[in-house]
Amino acid sequence: MNILLLGSGGRECAIAWKLAQSPRTDNLYIAPGNAGTASLGKNINMSATDFDAIAQFCIDNAINMVVVGPEDPLVKGIYDYFAQTPAISHIPVIGPSKAGAQLEGSKDFAKAFMMRHNIPTARYRSFTADNIEEGYAFLETLKAPYVLKADGLAAGKGVLILPTLDEAKSELRAMLDGMFGGASATVVIEEFLSGIECSVFVLTDSVSYKILPVAKDYKRIGEGDTGLNTGGMGAVSPVPFADETFMHKVEQRIVIPTIEGLKAEKIDYRGFIFLGLINVEGEPMVIEYNVRMGDPETEVVMPRIASDLVDMLEGVATQTLANRNLEIDERAACTVMLVSGGYPGSYEKGKVITGLDKVENSILFHAGTAEKDGNIVTSGGRVIAVTSYGATRREALDTSYNSASLIEWEGKYNRRDIGNDLENL
Ligand code: AMP
Ligand code: GLY
Repeated sequence: MNILLLGSGGRECAIAWKLAQSPRTDNLYIAPGNAGTASLGKNINMSATDFDAIAQFCIDNAINMVVVGPEDPLVKGIYDYFAQTPAISHIPVIGPSKAGAQLEGSKDFAKAFMMRHNIPTARYRSFTADNIEEGYAFLETLKAPYVLKADGLAAGKGVLILPTLDEAKSELRAMLDGMFGGASATVVIEEFLSGIECSVFVLTDSVSYKILPVAKDYKRIGEGDTGLNTGGMGAVSPVPFADETFMHKVEQRIVIPTIEGLKAEKIDYRGFIFLGLINVEGEPMVIEYNVRMGDPETEVVMPRIASDLVDMLEGVATQTLANRNLEIDERAACTVMLVSGGYPGSYEKGKVITGLDKVENSILFHAGTAEKDGNIVTSGGRVIAVTSYGATRREALDTSYNSASLIEWEGKYNRRDIGNDLENL
């Protein structure tokens, strides 16, 4: 089968790595890809949101399946575009329809969906500039800290957590005044939940589902979870507190109602669902839905899938997922993200990366790299995810840290405490 994978980050590198291992894959194309995906398939210089170019590419290269990495093309409706364009309507797109992608594209939609289907989540209300006074009044009913969320996509920056009521009110006004452009024309205000987070990934064909390995990511730039939010500085899988009892609750209270809710609302969803969960004293609650895999969670989830991903995705496309096999590798997997100095603020690109060839015991998933004059250079904030297996999480982490120390470029930074918070759980 000929597969086109859309995206260019560490997530896509990990998906490409897994797809490339399948005996079912004949040709793998990645658009636009990075220096890592170039060794797993063929990079195509095409934007993941240029639907017309993607359509033409699929026709010219007899593509049999399109796998979508990031949310942008999904929220913009790539699934529907394919379904409605006769020349390509036979090509399955792995990802939800535009309606399904609203679970990530609109926080207001996601919250209302959870309410309709009794899915546990923080109490909330949504506001626009027209009822800002009611927003202030609602804030007064909540306790600090205050959680404000831009309704639409805001490049991962749309959530503000504010310590005082005054700040919450003034930020609510700023958001409604266009802090995130149109994305914050509606703002969700919700109750703050206290607990430890994890990421649960579900693959569904709209009929049945499979729950993939659970992961935990580390979002802040600084050790001890301090400093600015990033795309993610590392991840581990499995997650000790996501034990059988917890996962049973997740499945019964969240996964099944989500799949049944999509069915009841006639929303076509053939792809990955990312449940951002928080463990509130043993009870799972949904912080957010995403309609794609997580990054860097994918860099530990893909290595822990022992079965053939292409076979599973074919099951998704043909709605026969129930008959496909999901085998999990029992080993732990951990990833440490190496980032550019200055990230998530401004940073320089184009730094020559050395030592990649010295790494023997880890898998290197490229996140922000490019090839230039025969060198591999940095081309983003998050640069390389160093993933390792281990009999235990500690062993996997130690291996990743050893490998990480072999890789150098000017300004390289990584957190040294990935997984430490789970030590005593
Ligand atoms: P998001 O951009 O939706 O991933 O949210 C960013 C982060 O904000 C989440 O990963 C949580 O750590 C935090 N967060 C979001 N909503 C809540 C909430 N209701 N209570 C506590 N923390 C939250
Ligand atoms: N790691 C969180 C995300 O992908 O959104």
